[in-house]
Amino acid sequence: MGTDIRGPGACEHAYDRARLRQFLAGEAAGEGLSRRGVLRLLGAAAGLAAAGTGTGAGVAAAAGRPGIVKPLPAELFTVRDTNAETNWQALRGTGYHTPVDRFFVRNHTSTPVLDPARWRLTVWGGGLRGRAVEFSYDDLRSLPAVTSSAVLECAGNGRSYFATQQGDRVSGTPWTMGAVGAARWRGVRLADVLRAAGLSRRAVDVMPRGLDPRYTAGGTDYGRVRRPMPVAKALDDVLLAYEMNGLPLLPDHGRPVRLVVPSWVGIASVKWVGDIEVSDRPLFSPWNTVFYRLFGSAHPRGGSAPLTCQPVRSAFELAPGAEFAAGRRHRLTGRSWSGGGGVRRVEVSADDGASWREARLHDAPRPGGWVRWSVPWQPHEPGPARLMARATDTAGTVQPFRSVPNDQGFFFDAVVRHPVRVVRDP
Ligand code: MTE
Repeated sequence: MGTDIRGPGACEHAYDRARLRQFLAGEAAGEGLSRRGVLRLLGAAAGLAAAGTGTGAGVAAAAGRPGIVKPLPAELFTVRDTNAETNWQALRGTGYHTPVDRFFVRNHTSTPVLDPARWRLTVWGGGLRGRAVEFSYDDLRSLPAVTSSAVLECAGNGRSYFATQQGDRVSGTPWTMGAVGAARWRGVRLADVLRAAGLSRRAVDVMPRGLDPRYTAGGTDYGRVRRPMPVAKALDDVLLAYEMNGLPLLPDHGRPVRLVVPSWVGIASVKWVGDIEVSDRPLFSPWNTVFYRLFGSAHPRGGSAPLTCQPVRSAFELAPGAEFAAGRRHRLTGRSWSGGGGVRRVEVSADDGASWREARLHDAPRPGGWVRWSVPWQPHEPGPARLMARATDTAGTVQPFRSVPNDQGFFFDAVVRHPVRVVRDP
């Protein structure tokens, strides 16, 4: 399953809080991003939320196409604007790693098709000892290669359940639970590239930026997709990946090179990376100020700290409305995962939570990974039923019955009520 290259303290909560304080104190810097500029963008994002649109619609979607290169057959994917959600029933029997033909795609705009031979990565900024340094694809391939299994997941995964399960009004792509996948990534450590570029002791933040088109929404141009992370995380377990499940990355997943930031919100794993700013000052972008924070009445005024580690979640490898014959013994399968550590326990209920049965785990708990599980089920009465799966991670966090709502619908972590039908045995 590859090396686990993750170190301690991966969630960087102290970093989150420090950046929030700095941001509120007006220390925002980076690509012309003044505090006033950010506040203007926050206003624009609030407008998007009110209009019920949000983080989705990009250039290609406006033309009625998702802007994704790989085939998106209806049995594997549900297309949502510029994005493609994996259908969970398509993961049944697929093994630990998600095959690339069914791995979800989350694009702010559209997939650029880049030629590895002409691609360059520029590492630059005041956190380096010297000038900007350029790497070619071959330069990266000549550095020591590392292989690591990691779950990649969108912070907005499960967003639609805020509305359908809780009656909350949120904006953004209405994912069910299929904006997640696990892959075996191969590439070089970001740490090795930063050191080769002359990382100095002054460096505090590292901001990769994608080569996809600029993201505009609601008349606001947010620029190229980019999001800073602290140097500590960048030097810990982050990869610059060029392979996924043993093959060169597909264009939709970041070809030729993308970041993989284990356990963190998917937006940190910038695809089609073209440059990385290494800064001696805190960096901010719309993706850690306007988006990917929690806003709303249940959160601090001005919003939460930028989101880092993903919450605990579970899903059945079943279509919504799947049918089961009454009186027979079935085997329910699913997966659970958490950015806060491995998953150590999964319970399943078929009677609205009145009783729970322990699922059998088929994988050891591992930070940055998921566990496959199964449980037998013998329904008796024909009619509608709701299945529930509840995971506990190694930090002791248990999935709640209700998620705390937020305007942009991030971090839905509640137990999902999965609708099925029990039918008469023919
Ligand atoms: N990087 C760039 N350059 N552009 C993007 O739109 N989307 C981010 C991240 N990296 C994005 C990006 C988000 S929100 C997620 S969840 C992951 O990529 C999705 O990766 P995937 O499409 O390979 O599944």
